Amino acid sequence: MELKTVDLAVEEHGEGTPLVLIHGFPLNRQIWQPIVPLLKSKARLILPDLRGFGESPREVEGYSMRLVAADILQLLDRLNIEKAIIAGHSMGGYVALEFAHAYPHRLKGLALVASQADADSPERRQARLITAREVRSRGIRYIADGMPSKLSENVEIQHQLNQMILTCDVAVVVAALRAMADRRDANLWLPEIQVPVLVITGAKDQLIPPERAHSFIKLVNKGWMVEIPEAGHMPMMESPQRTAEALFQLICAANGC
Ligand code: MLT
Repeated sequence: MELKTVDLAVEEHGEGTPLVLIHGFPLNRQIWQPIVPLLKSKARLILPDLRGFGESPREVEGYSMRLVAADILQLLDRLNIEKAIIAGHSMGGYVALEFAHAYPHRLKGLALVASQADADSPERRQARLITAREVRSRGIRYIADGMPSKLSENVEIQHQLNQMILTCDVAVVVAALRAMADRRDANLWLPEIQVPVLVITGAKDQLIPPERAHSFIKLVNKGWMVEIPEAGHMPMMESPQRTAEALFQLICAANGC
């Protein structure tokens, strides 16, 4: 299978162990800004915009979680990084899991933030395809106005998310929704992952509830879970300190300290 990758837009901070922070849908790298000052003295932070989002090329042909994982590999090659800790938020977690499966030799640690290994249920898949249809006919406001209150109960954060979503192209949102609907069940390869795995879950997450993290963690060899009581779907914005502390533990585990 030939994967036609693109050069992702990226921002970097700090030095040390490479830690790639992959944003979720339909957002961009700005979501990680609250934890940058807390972690940049502890790791080399690499914040890409996924294809189609933020400042990355709006190339959507063949959009899939697997293809986006190949974009991340290309980014590591471009930055001369042999191995990295990959942390993915929500849809970014689906990408991180594909990366772990396809490129285990390039992985030093894995973090899922408000994400899961499960594929979509038939109902969830159907709902996504309906959302894709609605976005195509009503425009980006449909999702920009409807989604933020499901991501966080914090009004200021909802406003920031609304602004991020408004920058998205309809075609990209539709392609990403379809790609998520078609993604594979990553539970199948969780037992094969040999590196330390962290799952961060928000107790108030309405989209991916903490129970998913509980079942995920049972399937990995070296994993642990951090549940943040005050967080919803956006722990890095809602509770940056706790999120950064949890990621710091992973950096230590990945370095054997
Ligand atoms: C995300 O936050 O990336 C998406 O909402 C995840 C999903 O819909 O499964």
